[in-house]
Amino acid sequence: MKRVIFEDLETALRAKEAKISVIGQGYIGLPTSLLMARAGFSVYGYDINQTLIKELLDGKTRLNSEKGMKELLNELKDRNYVPTSDLDDLYGSDVVLIAVPTPKGNNGPDISMVLEALDTALKAVRRGGLIVIESTLPPRTFYDVIIPQIEKRGFKVGEDIYLTYCPERALPGNLLHEIVHNFRVIGAIDERSAQLAKLLYGSFVKGGIEVTDPLTAEMVKLVENSYRDLNIAFANEVARICEVMGVDVKKVRELANRHPRVNILIPGIGVGGSCLTKDPLFLYWASEERGYSPKLIKRARDLNLEMPYHYAQILDEVVRGLNGGDGGTIAVLGATYKGDVPDPRESPVEPFVKELVKRGHIVRIYDPLVRVSFGGEYVPNLVGAVKGANAIAFVTDHSEFKLIDLTKLRKAVNRSEPVILFDGRMLFTPEEAERAGFIYISVGRSTIGLEKALVRPEI
Ligand SMILES: NC(=O)c1ccc[n+]([C@@H]2O[C@H](COP(=O)([O-])OP(=O)(O)OC[C@H]3O[C@@H](n4cnc5c(N)ncnc54)[C@H](O)[C@@H]3O)[C@@H](O)[C@H]2O)c1
Repeated sequence: MKRVIFEDLETALRAKEAKISVIGQGYIGLPTSLLMARAGFSVYGYDINQTLIKELLDGKTRLNSEKGMKELLNELKDRNYVPTSDLDDLYGSDVVLIAVPTPKGNNGPDISMVLEALDTALKAVRRGGLIVIESTLPPRTFYDVIIPQIEKRGFKVGEDIYLTYCPERALPGNLLHEIVHNFRVIGAIDERSAQLAKLLYGSFVKGGIEVTDPLTAEMVKLVENSYRDLNIAFANEVARICEVMGVDVKKVRELANRHPRVNILIPGIGVGGSCLTKDPLFLYWASEERGYSPKLIKRARDLNLEMPYHYAQILDEVVRGLNGGDGGTIAVLGATYKGDVPDPRESPVEPFVKELVKRGHIVRIYDPLVRVSFGGEYVPNLVGAVKGANAIAFVTDHSEFKLIDLTKLRKAVNRSEPVILFDGRMLFTPEEAERAGFIYISVGRSTIGLEKALVRPEI
């Protein structure tokens, strides 16, 4: 009997006849739903946010700046992709995929939304169906929490329910491409669950699929992001050292990276995004709880968290130094945590702006991809943001910013007094900024001796 149920599902997946429900229609759930619908499955995209579902039914997506998303939504929504907030639509699903948030609480991960979604999945899935969790899980959650929760509800894992953990590792900005082309890790409890998940992901993933156990999959996802965070922290630490040494980090990095075994990343005002800011902590907390307190991961996190405050302080001091001790107007260019990524979540620009406001400055913020103010004033265009400003802070490396003509920018400021250009992402050289008439300050460069410059610039 069990074998028949399994073979039914296997056949349905091969024939793209399986009914799939995806719980959570955000950054990850929506593109994954659309890609499975494009592969030929009937996909119900379920979300408790009814406004979001209404928008999707109207063909509108909040992920507008994701290449191809709006087009794909509109191509599939009246066909085999059905956005819904009605649980009844999900009943009898062959596969239920969970893509709800796993935020960090104050002292530990918050997996409550995943557990709530799991209860929904258990109501929706048919007997012998597959549940896939894509939401990030702290290590051991799968074995210690997820399986017991399912069995508490009366299901036998591996018999009544097949189960896998398939962590998502795609980067906003290029989600549809990354979800298809990234290498995929499937953590499966048994051979059959693995086989079913491979059929599901094999229908749209081109970047390769590797099956492992769920705990290894949990670790892989968190280790990857901890590695990134740690490497950025190292670059940021080198920048901070260069600042006190009075040497330019740009040159130090460039020459050090010519060594065949060195690859220092570009330092900046901090790290953001929903994953990099929490995944290292998930790893840290889980390990600490079991008796080993990781030494590097938490330090790296703290160092990266400190960066926006450090540069807000430097900018505050320089602006006041030029402005007779008073605060000034600061144009902050960029809000998202990464260039060309339309995602402001956990962006280091937020504490940077808040700190500048706290220190008594007027902050105008402009970002071509998102509309947020972070406690400053959002201005919908570049010229409006910089007009009359004492300082311009480049804090996100959007392509649009890299192409800016600094001479024209200086003219747009339209101010006869000195204007500071703070380069928080190492986009420009001091020479080009100074040629355009700015006082240049940057990550990884000392501001000692700046007094000389303070009396010089004119346009
Ligand atoms: N965004 C990323 O860059 C990214 C990358 C890799 C992994 N992840 C992981 O993917 C998971 C989802 O993240 P996201 O960025 O897509 O989140 P998101 O906030 O963009 O979307 C989550 C959606 O889930 C909905 N939701 C919450 N609880 C629900 C429930 N019980 N039933 C139905 N819907 C519910 C919310 O209304 C929201 O629309 C997280 O665990 C995250 O760590 C995210």
